[in-house]
Amino acid sequence: MTGQGRLAGKVALVTGAGSGIGQAAAQRFAAEGATVAVLDIRSELAALTTMLIEKEHEDHAMAFTADVGNAAEIETAVDLVAAELGRIDVVYNNAGTMELGSVEDTAEEVWDQTFGVHAKGTYLTSRAALEHMGPGGAIVNQGSISALVGVQYLAAYSAAKGAVVALTRQMAVDLAPRGIRVNAICPGTCRTPMTEPLFRARGEGDAEAGVAATIPKYPLGRLGTPEDIATAALFLASDEASFMTGSVLTSDGGMTAQ
Ligand SMILES: NC(=O)c1ccc[n+]([C@@H]2O[C@H](COP(=O)([O-])OP(=O)(O)OC[C@H]3O[C@@H](n4cnc5c(N)ncnc54)[C@H](O)[C@@H]3O)[C@@H](O)[C@H]2O)c1
Repeated sequence: MTGQGRLAGKVALVTGAGSGIGQAAAQRFAAEGATVAVLDIRSELAALTTMLIEKEHEDHAMAFTADVGNAAEIETAVDLVAAELGRIDVVYNNAGTMELGSVEDTAEEVWDQTFGVHAKGTYLTSRAALEHMGPGGAIVNQGSISALVGVQYLAAYSAAKGAVVALTRQMAVDLAPRGIRVNAICPGTCRTPMTEPLFRARGEGDAEAGVAATIPKYPLGRLGTPEDIATAALFLASDEASFMTGSVLTSDGGMTAQ
């Protein structure tokens, strides 16, 4: 676990690393020298990302399976990460799901499930990982622009992301005396499996039309990519951000600057 790179010699746990932004971040972290614990609720997706990393960076990835919203599962998995990889330096709380709906048409189970993965998942994963983290550690939480501005038909998701941003600032204050930094990223829209239903809804069944309708909301004239967000996560996870804690970093093509 030595070598070069902005995360050289570090152990990084990435949740939801089987797809989209989490997969891009796991690959980027490994390229920067980290050994990555690739965690996902879907074991076949965790295995896929691990295989992609191992092809390029041997011995830099290991797959783990858990539901971040289930205390017993995530605690067992995180303890296994520490046992296998020695310790934990970086946690990227990225796992997530998104259900569309206004307050009026959001079912109670959808509300609870959404808070379960985003807010509770961030709390449970961080709680478990902190037992294995020391000074110099960094936690990066995945927020969203929907925590900062109103986005149509995303009631439960926006509220849960708001909770993640508030928890980020709170944890930053508690953990600063231990030398552990906690920051959040608020990404703008990226095209991933999670956002396909959003684009289909916006395009009245046609995802391409939904993408075309979304782009004008972005001053830079394009959607984000998982790699854009992975770059921001890498920065916050690395020692380059050593004076940053409690920050909420937008990576959103100027969407919330308007
Ligand atoms: N794509 C975007 O436009 C966008 C914008 C802002 C924020 N985000 C956030 O980024 C994160 C990643 O989103 P994405 O677009 O890459 O989605 P994605 O669907 O491509 O990937 C999410 C991954 O999380 C996993 N996952 C879901 N529930 C889980 C659970 N309970 N425990 C463990 N793993 C779980 C999924 O299996 C999947 O592999 C999410 O938190 C999302 O809310 C995405």
